[in-house]
Parts: sequence; C-alpha cells; structure tokens
Amino acid sequence: MAEAERGGPMAMRQSLNGRWKFSCAADPASRAERFYEADYDCGAWDDIDVPGHIQLQGRGRPQYVNTMYPWDGLEDVRPPAIPRRNPVGSYVKQFRLTEELRSGPVYISFQGVESAFYVWLNGRFVGYAEDSFTPSAFELTPYLRDGDNKLAVEVYQRSTGGWLEDQDFWRFSGIFREVYLYTVPEAHVRDLQVRAELGDDYAHGRLTVDLELLGRADSPGEGGRAELTLKDADGNVVAEAESRFANGRATLAADAGRVETWSAETPYLYRVCLSIYDASGELREAIVQRAGFRRFELRGGVMRLNGKRIVFKGVNRHEFNARRGRSVTEEDMLWDVKTIKRHNMNAVRTSHYPNQTRWYELCDEYGLYVIDEMNLETHGSWQKMGAVEPSWNIPGDKPEWRGAVLDRARSMLERDKNHPSILIWSCGNESYAGQVILDASNYFRERDPGRLVHYEGVFHNRAYDATSDMESRMYAKPADIIAYLETDPAKPYISCEYMHAMGNSVGGMHKYTELEDRYPKYQGGFIWDYIDQALIARDRYGREYFAYGGDFGDRPTDYSFCGNGIVFADRRETPKLQEVKFLYQNVRLAPSREGVRIANRNLFANTDRWALSVKLYRDGIETFRWTGEASVAPGEEAFVPVRLTDEAAAAPGEYAVHAALMLKADEAWAEAGHEVAFGEGRFEVAAKADDAALAPAAGTLRVVEGDVNIGVHGDGFSVLFSKQAGSLVSLRYGARELIEAPPMPLFWRATTDNDKGTSLGFDAGLWYAASLARRCTGVSLEASASGGEATAVFDYAFAISAELRVRVAYTVRADGQVRVRMDYSGAAGLPDVPIVALSFKTSADYGHTEWYALGPEENYADRAFGARLGLFSRDVRELPSPYLVPQESGNRTGVRRLRLTDGCGQGLQLAASPAAPVECAVSPYTAFELEHAAHPYELPDVHYTVVTVAGRQMGVGGDDSWGAPVHAEYRIPADRPLSFAFTLSPVDGAVAARG
Ligand code: GAL
Repeated sequence: MAEAERGGPMAMRQSLNGRWKFSCAADPASRAERFYEADYDCGAWDDIDVPGHIQLQGRGRPQYVNTMYPWDGLEDVRPPAIPRRNPVGSYVKQFRLTEELRSGPVYISFQGVESAFYVWLNGRFVGYAEDSFTPSAFELTPYLRDGDNKLAVEVYQRSTGGWLEDQDFWRFSGIFREVYLYTVPEAHVRDLQVRAELGDDYAHGRLTVDLELLGRADSPGEGGRAELTLKDADGNVVAEAESRFANGRATLAADAGRVETWSAETPYLYRVCLSIYDASGELREAIVQRAGFRRFELRGGVMRLNGKRIVFKGVNRHEFNARRGRSVTEEDMLWDVKTIKRHNMNAVRTSHYPNQTRWYELCDEYGLYVIDEMNLETHGSWQKMGAVEPSWNIPGDKPEWRGAVLDRARSMLERDKNHPSILIWSCGNESYAGQVILDASNYFRERDPGRLVHYEGVFHNRAYDATSDMESRMYAKPADIIAYLETDPAKPYISCEYMHAMGNSVGGMHKYTELEDRYPKYQGGFIWDYIDQALIARDRYGREYFAYGGDFGDRPTDYSFCGNGIVFADRRETPKLQEVKFLYQNVRLAPSREGVRIANRNLFANTDRWALSVKLYRDGIETFRWTGEASVAPGEEAFVPVRLTDEAAAAPGEYAVHAALMLKADEAWAEAGHEVAFGEGRFEVAAKADDAALAPAAGTLRVVEGDVNIGVHGDGFSVLFSKQAGSLVSLRYGARELIEAPPMPLFWRATTDNDKGTSLGFDAGLWYAASLARRCTGVSLEASASGGEATAVFDYAFAISAELRVRVAYTVRADGQVRVRMDYSGAAGLPDVPIVALSFKTSADYGHTEWYALGPEENYADRAFGARLGLFSRDVRELPSPYLVPQESGNRTGVRRLRLTDGCGQGLQLAASPAAPVECAVSPYTAFELEHAAHPYELPDVHYTVVTVAGRQMGVGGDDSWGAPVHAEYRIPADRPLSFAFTLSPVDGAVAARG
C-alpha cells in the first residue's frame, strides 16, 4: 500500500538486497520442506542475488512463450489447478536490525516476487502473497528476536496467481525486485492521497490531501493535527492548510492560486510538505510528496489534458534488461526515460503490469503520460493460435476469481494514485471480457474519478463495452481505424498497441500519425514495443550473443517473437527510432528557399523555448547557416522568413534546406543542442545547358573481343566482360580488382520478420529461385564510332516465367567511368517482387562507405520520413542492423553517391542522378547468407563486401508481424517494367575520380 512506497527517511529502512542463501527444487515434492525452521542449517547452501530471477542465476532455465500457458502440452491442467512441475526457490536471509529499526514496529516489503511466496521469520509463519508486480508488506514485529533473525521465503513459480500472469514475456520466478525492512513512527500516516486539480479555467489549482493514520489504539495522532505547506519548484511557499484528525482521518484543502500546470511538455512538480503533530503539539511525522496540477477528462468524446485534446505518441514498455531480465536497475530506467523523451514519445503503457515505483517518479519528473496496467493477462485461456475460443476463459464472470482480480486492481491504484503522470488505469491485457473485469473497471472509476479507464479486451466481446472509456484496439489497420472514426463514435480512439516493431519493421507508421490531423477522436497509439526481450547467453565457442525463445532448450516456446523493440536488448538504439522520432515530433517544419513554415502541435509549449536553425546544403556540402528563434504559440502555424545569402544558392546543384528546433539549454533528458524537431525542403539550381552536357571522355578505348571475354581497356583501367559467366567479371582501376563476384540481377531480400509473418517465402519464394537460377541468353558489344565508349549488354531469362527478361548494359567510357543500366521487363502472373536490384561482391578490404543519400540510419520506401538527405559515412561492418534474427537490413533510399574505400582511401564510387536515385545496401553478407542464419553466429566469416544496388525495394511494413502486408504503394507489382541506372568510377585510383 501507499505507505511502503513513500517510505520514510532512509534510516527508517533497512535494505535486505544482496546475497541470500538459496536452494532450488524442480517441484514442491523435492523441496527442502522445513528449511524455515530456526535450527535448520542452510550454511552449505549456495548463494543467490536478491533482487534477481532464479533462472538467470544458473538454476533452471528461462522459457519464452507468448499466448499459450507455459505448460501447454506438458501438463493437462485447467484453472485453478497448479502444474505438478513447479520450481520452488527456498531463500534464507539472516539479518540484525539496525539501531533505528529497533524501537518501533518492523515491517517487510517485497516489491516484486514471482509468482507466489510464503514468508517465515525465526521459524514462525508470517504470510503468503501472490501478484508478482505489486508490493507485499508484512508486519514482522511479533516474530523478531534480538540479534540474528532468520528470514525464510519460499517462492513458487506456478500458483493460482500464475493463471493471471500469462503475459507475452520470459517466464521467470524469484524475488526480482528489492526487499527491505522499515519502521514507522508511532503516529503514522498509513495512506495519503493528493489531488492537485485545476479549476474550469485550467489555471487555478486546488489541492486536496486525504490522510489516514495507522489505526493503532495508542496512537497519539488522535486529537492531533496535520499541517500542509505547498511549495513550488523553487521552494517558495504557495499555499498552506491545516486540519485536525478525526477518527484517524484528516482532509486538508488549499487554494493554490494560479499554478504552473503539469504536462509531458511542462512537467512542473510542486512539493506537498506535511507535518503531523500529536495532541500535545509535538511533531511526530513529516512527509514530502510531489504533486502536479493537471486535469484529465473526457469532454465531447475527446480526451483532454488541461483542456486541450491530447494525442498519445506512445510506446509499450516491458521492464527488461538483457542480463537481469525484469529485474531492472535505476540506470536502466534512467536510460529508458531519456531515450523515450529524446525520441519525441510522450506516453508509455506499462505493458503489462505495474512497474517499479521509481519508473512513475521518473515519468512525473521527465514528463511522460502513463497508462498504468494492472497485472492481469489470461491470454491462453481464451485465444488459441489466434482464434477466439473462450470456453474456459478466466476471470470471465466467475466469482471465484473476483477477489484476486480486484486485489490486483486495488494494489496498483493504491500504490500509484499520487503520480500525476498516470492518466489512465488499464484493466490488464488480453484477458477477454466479463463481469469481473467490468467490476475492476468500475472500481477504478469510483475510487479515482480523476482518471479514465482503459481495456482493449472488449473488442472481442462487446457485451462488456462499458469496461473501457475509450475504444482501444491493437494492430488495427489504418483503414479500420478510419472506418471506426467515420462513424462519429461516442468514444475516442487509441491503439494500445500498433506498429509491431519486430526486426526490420516500423514501415508505414505515417499512415497512423496522419490520422492525428484528420480526426479529433484519433488520440494516438502505443508502439509495440520499447525493447527487444533477448537474453545474453554464450554460444558453443563462449561468445556472447542475444538468445531468444528456444535457445535455452525451453519448450514449448514462441522463439524470436520476444524481440519487438525499437531499442535492441542491450539498449542500443535501432534505426527504427529515426522514423519514430520524426513522426512523433510535436512541431512540423517545412523549410524552403524563402523560410520555414512552422506548425506547432504542442499543447502548451511555444516554439521560442527552442533555437531554430536553418542550414542549406548543396550536394551535401553546407553553404549557409542561420540560427535564431521563432515564436509560434501552441496549436498555431506561422511562416518564418529566412533570407539566404545570394551566393548560398547560386551554383548549380541539388539543394537541401534543413530546419531544426534545438534545446537551448540542457534538460534532464538531453543536452543543449539536442534536436526536438526537424524538417527538410529541397530545390534544384539547374546548370546552364552547355555545362550540363556530359562532355565526351577524352581518349580512346582498346576493345578486345576474345572467344570467351570482351576486354575494354583504357588509360590506367581495364574492364572484362565474360560471355561464359554472363556478366562483368573484372573492373580494375590501376592494380586494384573491384569485382570478386560478378553483378547479377537480384529479386530476393533476406526475409524480415514481417516478411515471414506474411509468408513471403511461400507466396513469393520463386523470386528467391529466380535470383539464384537465371540464364544469360545473350551478350552483345557495341563500340562508339569515336572509340570513346563501348557497351556490353547482357540479357537474362528466368525459369519462373518465360515472359520475364532483364537486360543489363555496361557502357565503359575512355575516362574509366562505367555506366550501368538495368531494365526489368515485368511479367504477368507473378507475385509482387521484393526487390529489383543488381548485386555484386567486392573484397572485404573495401570496408568503409561514404554516402550522399537519405540517412543517416537505415531506411526503406515506407520508412524514410525520418531520413534526411546528406553525407554520412560508416564502416561496412556497422551497416547491417543487429536484429535478433539476421534479415534484410542496412538499406538506404535516395542514394545519389556511395563510395566504398579501403584503408588507403581507394576504391569505387557509385553515382546516380538526383532525379532518379537508387537504393543501396552494403553488407558483409549476401541476402542468401542472411536468409539461412537464425542467429548472427551462424553467419560466415567475413571475406567480402556485398553491394546491392536497387531500382526499388519493397517497404518493410509494420502494421503487424503475422500477416499484415506491406501497404500497396510500397510494393512492387511484378508486371510493371522498371529501369534504373548508375555509374561506377574509381576513388583516388590510378584514374582520378570524376563522378
Ligand atoms: C499483443 C500482446 C503483446 C505482444 C504482441 C505481439 O497481442 O498484447 O503482449 O504479445 O501482441 O508481440
């Protein structure tokens, strides 16, 4: 309950974290039954770390399953029966009370134990608890001894409570959150509820504080009084109040006048300082509680914060650490809150259980809206392999589950009610619907009218629609959301889960964020999800890797479905964040030659709190920069003129204008200079007609048409085409050979998780075959009359379709440049093509890349909104994204120029026209090597740099990973002809680069 969370001065607490004695049994029958007895000797037992999971400390194995219960197919049990195989952890901790704790009553708080446990002290039974994700406190006073005390805790992995905890996550057990002893003063406030409300003007604050004393007969608090002082963030006293206790309760109310309001944009916190005096006027307890003034309400069918329509730019977050599982640290939480803020997310759903208390404090402080979700998921009881089959659903309408479920609701609300960041209570996840969950929802509403209630499960059973104050869906497609919103519904809409970020995903996200402007009742969504839940393990050779379901011999399992994060399991950022950050930004910037159009979609923040920077680039090189600021009120739009200097955009070329809003000073979550909003505009300055024409190359070529090969030789370079191999087999600049494996048409990409979800292998696998099995049907040579150019043309046919043709033409110029053009004919009756590309290998010596393209991070046709045109460089080994399961990655769209160089800065340049850029991926691995690896350690040693140049690659999709197709506009119909062209030229070689 609330007291444990507020705690007291640290001296009134004694941490029991650290090494405990431990013994583990595979089932209850083999456990050390009497270990809790005072004289049972546990001295020979092993140690275990508390907090921590049993399975991550060398005992038993972690198991990953999604919707099915983890014992499905192993034991035939139905609720409330408990599986026979039920690992038991026996924990013992010896402690001596600190001086401070010796005088008063002593309690113990377990912040999180999975999934059920018994407690004994000095051989005497203290209590039992379930609900892994809310604290359990027990009074120890009657069992304490002077000197050493023996605390014994027996933790069961399976319990009746376990039936309510079928979340999609690793299945662990143990004491995984902190444990501490605490005492309280004789006159003690056991519960405190702070309501910091706003008047109808959304400006005046009214503070109400309800206090409840611990009901002890001798409490001198009776007849005593409470004093309240409200202080602002600078410590100034804003309001005061006083009240006497009656029947152990007191209510203090204060008019706070005009207040700074709390929101994610402006997370202003006050301090409520309470002093508790006894009847004789002596100070007995002092409490400091933070409070934020805000009003969250449903008005006109729209959710509003402080009067303004709110849009949740949310993410679902599991508590996770790749080494510690759900036993996350303060450092993890700080990292997460900062990462989330830095990428313009404003909301988090605590999927699917109450988090550590510290998380909510950070959300209050840093500014994040929270959907606080109770610990209830019974997925396996009503949905089987996707089909709704609720024949034995719990809790449903079953009264025997009511107490347990409502206890979970109460434990969450009572613990968390004072956090301004929490706007919405959630009745749990995916538990179908019924009377019990409706009762939980009504409990939230009655106990806490200042918040709304969320529950998605009614989607599957509309008889209980009243459970949720909002229409909440998961993975609804944009068209379905539009269909709902077009009915002018009574309830506002949110996606409690959307954009399934498994592997290379988050394509098409803009189709959701665009709804924000179209429908007032579209109030945002929560990406699934924040972090890959993969655990660090060691491969056969002792090297660490990220393990997923099945890697621990755990069966049944749902394999890599645990990895859906926008950050990797070790909290490195994934490239998906580039898109999320852009599409979630609150300010839209549309720069042009004349200035910047600014649309400020913040609810409370004026754009003048940030610096506005405008930079102009010609072909990637900065030619102009301006920094100032612009005042655009929240909800307003304005055009801010910015005068470029005349010379800045004089020279012919492709220009990109980048506008950005940046932090002027450090914030808790980012440093000054951090970009909070970005926009790009482009224009061209055309060359004069005579400059534009590509001058014919000077010099002549020596063309040697042999029986097998066609050689084209020039000054310092030599190109060889093979009629036998059917391609370009050698490109030599000076002494350097650039072709290790000849360019060939490629139609296959290593399937992404989303591709696997749509059965791309089944539906379009013939493109895989076509990429490996083609026939070169013709080779021809054409030399220009001047001798300055020679063109070799290769025609290809494919077994999958007689109609399909690909022609690749290489035109070699006397200056060493090779123009490559690929024409894909299109053919009827074939599935959409994953990619239309030409791919070749060069030596891994060419290990460095420089790009003038959309970047800097990986991007795809449907995930390129957050990418910007510019110059960037990467080593080849950094280019593939380390997704859990190797798959297509590292692509860049809008490629105008790509340089591949070795350690001496020499190599190859690829260039395409800005009007018809290509897509490129550079990787140590081929699509086929990636396709066949289930873990990164299955990939071969690196020998090559694989260059894939595509006219187009299909988008990656992201609506879900179990069948949602990539949106039509980002697919490649097989029957549409497609051509692309680029040039190859040397970098710093024997022939000077002229690209
Ligand atoms: C949802 C569920 C999440 C997760 C997701 C798929 O149905 O609520 O917990 O399983 O699907 O990754």
